[in-house]
Amino acid sequence: MENRLATFAAPKGVPEYYPPEGAGFEHVRNTLVAAADRAGYGLIELPIFEDTGLYARGVGESTDVVSKEMYTFADRGERSVTLRPEGTAGVVRSVIEHGLDRQGLPVKLRYAGPFFRYERPQAGRYRQLQQVGIEAIGVDDPALDAEVIAVADEGFRALGLTGYRLEITSLGDAEIRPAYGALLREFLAGLPLDEPTRARAQLNPLRVFDDKRPEVRALLADAPLLLDHLSPAAAEHHAAVKQHLDDLGVAYVENPRMVRGLDYYTKTTFEFVHDGLGAQSGIGGGGRYDGLMATLGGQPLSGVGFGIGVDRTLLACRAEGVAPWSEARCEVFGVPLGEAAKRRLVVLAAQLRRAGIRVDLAYGGRGLKGAMKAADRSGARLALVLGDRDLEAGTVGVKDLLTGEQHAVALHAVLDELRSRLT
Ligand code: HAM
Repeated sequence: MENRLATFAAPKGVPEYYPPEGAGFEHVRNTLVAAADRAGYGLIELPIFEDTGLYARGVGESTDVVSKEMYTFADRGERSVTLRPEGTAGVVRSVIEHGLDRQGLPVKLRYAGPFFRYERPQAGRYRQLQQVGIEAIGVDDPALDAEVIAVADEGFRALGLTGYRLEITSLGDAEIRPAYGALLREFLAGLPLDEPTRARAQLNPLRVFDDKRPEVRALLADAPLLLDHLSPAAAEHHAAVKQHLDDLGVAYVENPRMVRGLDYYTKTTFEFVHDGLGAQSGIGGGGRYDGLMATLGGQPLSGVGFGIGVDRTLLACRAEGVAPWSEARCEVFGVPLGEAAKRRLVVLAAQLRRAGIRVDLAYGGRGLKGAMKAADRSGARLALVLGDRDLEAGTVGVKDLLTGEQHAVALHAVLDELRSRLT
């Protein structure tokens, strides 16, 4: 009987990207990063795990992210560490630790990488999720809120996405929250809510707006909205953000019932929602966080930023049928017919790669048929077919893999030939 070892599977709820889809993932991430780069956001590369206290204090203990979803463990030195569930707290920690806010403000930073949340996995909801994010710290200017939103919008547009909408609201400044919270609690006290919902509301009354049940939504139809209770300064800030978005031609809808899953937000908050994704429709979100720097022990500076879900943005591209990337692994594929030809092609491939052309070769001596199949599978546009007779003549066969046409080109002229054929 065959004695096979058990195999392993990736952890539950963790998406993996491999060719050809890996190309799509990389393109989405790089396109979002490029939009941030064009607006002057510099790369910050941060730890994947941090002191657990950073998230408890920075993100908020009443949030699901902190209370239920963190990957927390004691390391071998008995320190409690947590795999980062989001990026903003780590960025702010780093800004404070390294005094980045002592130079010119705002400090503009971008990041890309994996984040970890122990959520119930489903389509578009993963336990390891990938984000591209930006943070602009130190200047409380509505034009900066609009810039952050516009950078996300640019990224989505550059991918060719159209089926998304931007929802915005204002959560006001810290001063009005207690009064508004009391008002909302009083309203909720008069409703026939079940116990778990009541308990949730006790921790943070705004969370009730997150309830998806139609009967609860109906009960909340007349609930007081924060947007109607903004301080004059916060209202002015919000109006200015909307004015800038209008100037920029970035369309938005106001959603005064928006609930973000993180506690640090003040004033502007926003979400990009895609209609093709079912329940997990948020492809990106963010906002302003005026108290976070101070909460984490820094200067009382404000900040604003976003996190875009790369996994979900890729799903959105698929839902819309846009794929502005190539899945081809290479442009040119070398097919050697014999040992001498192989030695020559190995060197030619290295030279062509140095010149910037993406080249792969048939390895393993599988003969012309097998090699041509490999060439087709690679996605290359052109094959270089080299046999003994070509070697003697100093030529190589350049074959168009689409039309099947092939003609001989002098070996010394092959780089120019490939360049002109590939443009
Ligand atoms: P967030 O809304 O929690 O914000 O996450 C940002 C984006 O990450 C979401 O819109 C979604 O696309 C993606 N995402 C979140 N959780 C998952 C998941 N389980 N599976 C797949 N994708 C997911 C933040 O993380 C804030 N740090 C954003 C921010 C930056 N606010 C200010 N600055």
